[in-house]
Amino acid sequence: MIDLAAFPPDFAWGTATSAYQIEGAVAEDGRAPSIWDTFSHSPGRIDNGDHGDVACDHYHRWPEDIALMKRLGTDAYRLSVAWPRVVPGGDGPVNGAGLDFYDRLVDGLLDAGITPSVTLYHWDLPQALQDRGGWAERETAEHLARYASVVAERLGDRVTQWATLNEPLCSAWIGHLEGRMAPGLTDLTTAVRASYHLLLGHGLAAQAVRAAASGAARTGLVTNHSTVAAASTRPEDVAAAARMDGHINRWWLDPVYGRGFPADMRELYGVELPERAGDMATIAAPLDWHGLNYYFPATVVDDPGGPVPYAREVRLPDVPRTGMDWQIDADGLEALLLRLTDDYGAHRLYVTENGSAFADAVGPDGAVHDPERARYLEQHLAACARAVRKGVPLAGYYAWSLLDNFEWAYGYDKRFGLVHVDYATQVRTVKTSGLRYAEIIRAHRRGAATD
Ligand code: FCB
Repeated sequence: MIDLAAFPPDFAWGTATSAYQIEGAVAEDGRAPSIWDTFSHSPGRIDNGDHGDVACDHYHRWPEDIALMKRLGTDAYRLSVAWPRVVPGGDGPVNGAGLDFYDRLVDGLLDAGITPSVTLYHWDLPQALQDRGGWAERETAEHLARYASVVAERLGDRVTQWATLNEPLCSAWIGHLEGRMAPGLTDLTTAVRASYHLLLGHGLAAQAVRAAASGAARTGLVTNHSTVAAASTRPEDVAAAARMDGHINRWWLDPVYGRGFPADMRELYGVELPERAGDMATIAAPLDWHGLNYYFPATVVDDPGGPVPYAREVRLPDVPRTGMDWQIDADGLEALLLRLTDDYGAHRLYVTENGSAFADAVGPDGAVHDPERARYLEQHLAACARAVRKGVPLAGYYAWSLLDNFEWAYGYDKRFGLVHVDYATQVRTVKTSGLRYAEIIRAHRRGAATD
């Protein structure tokens, strides 16, 4: 049961996507390659050799996709702007045609009564900047800020919700340490430097948006987190859980909330940070809002011979899982919302992503029946409501995702959409989970106490 009365009347009901995952049109209107074009066209990097060249063809089908949002009854939409469309070289000339696309999209959303929430960087770094060192270099943070001001100058009269980065953890750790995402590197020093420059880029881009957009602009950051539990009470496992918590939670939150980078993790990484005077204040400038992306919890054991942070995730038996093999645990969402509020002092929160992949198919009746996804949605919304009752200032929820889309290294096999996409025909079909979301939204708007 979802305690809908917990949510404020102006709660934002949204869906989320990102540019490279849905747009396609990778060579149109002056767009240049990003690190994801390069990575996805490198043999063996992506399941089935998939890439984002066409994806959901949203670049051409966006009016239909806005119509789908209206069918779901959502009033908010989280999208990302592709840096390589707007400033194709990373720095240097601005591509007006790229900006025009987002201009039309924003107007289309506003006409439909849907509030856009714009993320400036959802992993698609212009390849030209990667060729000069990418996030390992300070200049990339500075170029992000300049690109941010270009976008905010163009859209800032209409867009009030801005996020600088999506999930810097994945960019730094998965992209530069584990190598499973673009740019596909596996080097600790590079990864730690990237983490630093990503957070610096966040701070500089936030300043740029605040300077360029209207006074109504609210600028935030989107980070992803997991609750971390030790697999046993052995002191070694308990210490491993603290390290994993440092790696995926504290490393990202402590500096943003003014505590600096955690000393235990600095020591563990053993990498000198490229710090300059004033950087920490830039990184820690107060957020207007914080976006939490939540998918799964982590349970770890000590792993002294393994990679940093010497803690290994274990696969718990007999727990519910999604098609990604991710454990389903809605309590983790509640716990993280409470931690951000009570421990870090977040004063305005959104769940900016939350959702599940399952192997959906269009049935003989033409419908896509996905009861597991509907259940996942209900459980996590119920967790949000519990968090609100405990004082969490939660202002909205964005389901990941509006559409099935290019799920990074997993390609198109993993379907997260509330709307099914047939990639051969680009036909969209609202899944029963999407209809369920619409029903929940309607019930909240009607003022129903529960659903
Ligand atoms: C998050 C990403 C998003 C999507 C979901 C499933 O880590 O931000 O783009 O791929 O996972």
